[in-house]
Amino acid sequence: METEPDIRIRPASEQDIERVIDIEKLSFNIPWTIDFFKHELYNPVSFFYIMEIQNKLAAYVIFWIFKDESHIANVAVHPGFRKRGYGERLVNWVFDFCRRKGTKMITLEVNEMNTAARNLYRKMGFKIVGKRARYYENKYDALILTRELK
Ligand SMILES: CC(C)(COP(=O)(O)OP(=O)(O)OC[C@H]1O[C@@H](n2cnc3c(N)ncnc32)[C@H](O)[C@@H]1OP(=O)(O)O)[C@@H](O)C(=O)NCCC(=O)NCCS
Repeated sequence: METEPDIRIRPASEQDIERVIDIEKLSFNIPWTIDFFKHELYNPVSFFYIMEIQNKLAAYVIFWIFKDESHIANVAVHPGFRKRGYGERLVNWVFDFCRRKGTKMITLEVNEMNTAARNLYRKMGFKIVGKRARYYENKYDALILTRELK
């Protein structure tokens, strides 16, 4: 758990899901449903964390750890908190968490049209290693990104 005067990263609970879904709906054309989020609370390979800023739910991240590899399944920052470094900070926190668990590599998929996320991941050292054709809305390709965690 990360604690600072105004910023806290802590495990999500059922009580957070409604507010997480508010952010999810503001962030994606095809948002995850409540069942997806609930499932991740109890999925043994899943880590579901939220970032609170001054007690407001500002961002969330869900990542999976499989032995020495991890995968970011979902991450979003509330529009009111974007472009202030919180996305980068949360992903960096995930890197540290995964390193402590012995993970050597982290992967994710990003919509080729998602410029903000592509820039974020490029800045954070991810490289494109593959593509899934028409993965989003049967229209846009998913780029598969990876980054070593040393
Ligand atoms: C992608 C997202 C998580 C970035 O969060 P954020 O807190 O706004 O990002 P940060 O302020 O930490 O920005 C870090 C870097 O990301 C890139 N970036 C962020 N927003 C951007 C934008 N609107 N346009 C272009 N690049 C952007 C920049 O490279 C930025 O670095 P810089 O400030 O030095 O230019 C946020 O836009 C979001 O929640 N989007 C909707 C959900 C989503 O797309 N999730 C990713 C799915 S793979």
